[in-house]
Amino acid sequence: MTESNLKYTGGILHLDGCSLRKLAQEYGTPLYVYSADRIKSNYKSYDDAFRNTDKIICYSVKANFNGAVIKLLASLGAGADVLSEGELFMALRAGIDPKKIVFAGVGKNASEIRQAVRNGICMLNIEGEQELEAVGEIVKQEKKTLNIAFRINPDIDPKTHPKIATGLKESKFGIPIRRALEVYKRAKGMENIRIAGVHLHIGSQITDTLPFKLAAESAVGFADRLAEEGIEVEYIDIGGGLGIGYENDDVSSPYDFAKVLESYFRGRPQKLILEPGRSIVGNAGYLLTRVNYIKQGANKNFVVVDAGFNDLIRPAMYGAYHNIMPVEESDETITADVVGPICETGDVIAKDRGIRGAKQGNILAICDSGAYGFSMSSNYNSRLRAAEVLLEGGKPRLVRRRETYEDLIRTEETR
Ligand SMILES: Cc1ncc(COP(=O)(O)O)c(C=O)c1O
Repeated sequence: MTESNLKYTGGILHLDGCSLRKLAQEYGTPLYVYSADRIKSNYKSYDDAFRNTDKIICYSVKANFNGAVIKLLASLGAGADVLSEGELFMALRAGIDPKKIVFAGVGKNASEIRQAVRNGICMLNIEGEQELEAVGEIVKQEKKTLNIAFRINPDIDPKTHPKIATGLKESKFGIPIRRALEVYKRAKGMENIRIAGVHLHIGSQITDTLPFKLAAESAVGFADRLAEEGIEVEYIDIGGGLGIGYENDDVSSPYDFAKVLESYFRGRPQKLILEPGRSIVGNAGYLLTRVNYIKQGANKNFVVVDAGFNDLIRPAMYGAYHNIMPVEESDETITADVVGPICETGDVIAKDRGIRGAKQGNILAICDSGAYGFSMSSNYNSRLRAAEVLLEGGKPRLVRRRETYEDLIRTEETR
């Protein structure tokens, strides 16, 4: 949790100098608010930390796919890591150079592979042998060469939440490292396929550099093994970025990260690809929610807010912690569960927490909600998805309007 761009002025919480209460009044709640300044500084700290390494920073679109956010990152020179045709569409639409787009995912369908081929992306990261066959068929039909990598599964424990650990041998992702060489050799002889890289991604919300050191060691070692077989790759893609300090700030920085990786990449022929998502947008976003009611249960208090797990699923899904700040400055604290309006007991944003300023009608800011917040939201309980506002130099711009009931039925066939 980093609060340096947050400040109470006249008793009201301001982000980049803009009153969060005013934003809640003007755009309604629940409302996502993002700081463009913070997104820029997060991106720039990666760029600066890795300034001595030949690299592409491919922003992981899944963290936050708002077009204005992707456009902002495109303007800074970012590439994109995408996982679906939809994310590819969003990245291209935002002006990301296709030569800086990498495409991963265990279940790519024919249309997704075809779009990757047609758009001449940097690399399609293939996750299995049957997928390679499917790609082989499509490049033949398209009569076009595609750059590919294989996502290897190095069996490394990233010491994160089990639901976001992706490089363990039990996980569905990638090709087990002991079989990977055979698959590369098979691809080598295939028409219209150019082997461009090695990819891995061991997990998300990793706050220590050691798992990345092990991942880099594994990827670089594997690239050397490929070279011995006459397969020279151009890129080593080590996957997602650092975690963020949801609960405290004891998290490695991009500079720590660079220090660890630089030694593996110094003097190597390959370009490094990084795919950070959470650490670019996570602490730049806040979910504003209104306190609807304070309720006394049999043995605990409930702060009932107007945001539910359809808006922010991380606490319900991962038991994730988000700091909660009162928008109206207050020292009054009650111990309570902060819960949403959804008809499920699991609709909890914070459990047994001391909550400041929890008064009916007040606004609470749920911090560090810029990543995997709106992008994982849904219409569960026929709830309308929230609006999103981007603060640019402290000036608000509505970058997604709140949904309407018409939006709820827009895709229904009502015959
Ligand atoms: C393949 C891949 N790359 C990058 C990321 C982004 O990770 P993070 O948001 O932790 O930086 C993810 C997220 O899980 C991913 O699956």
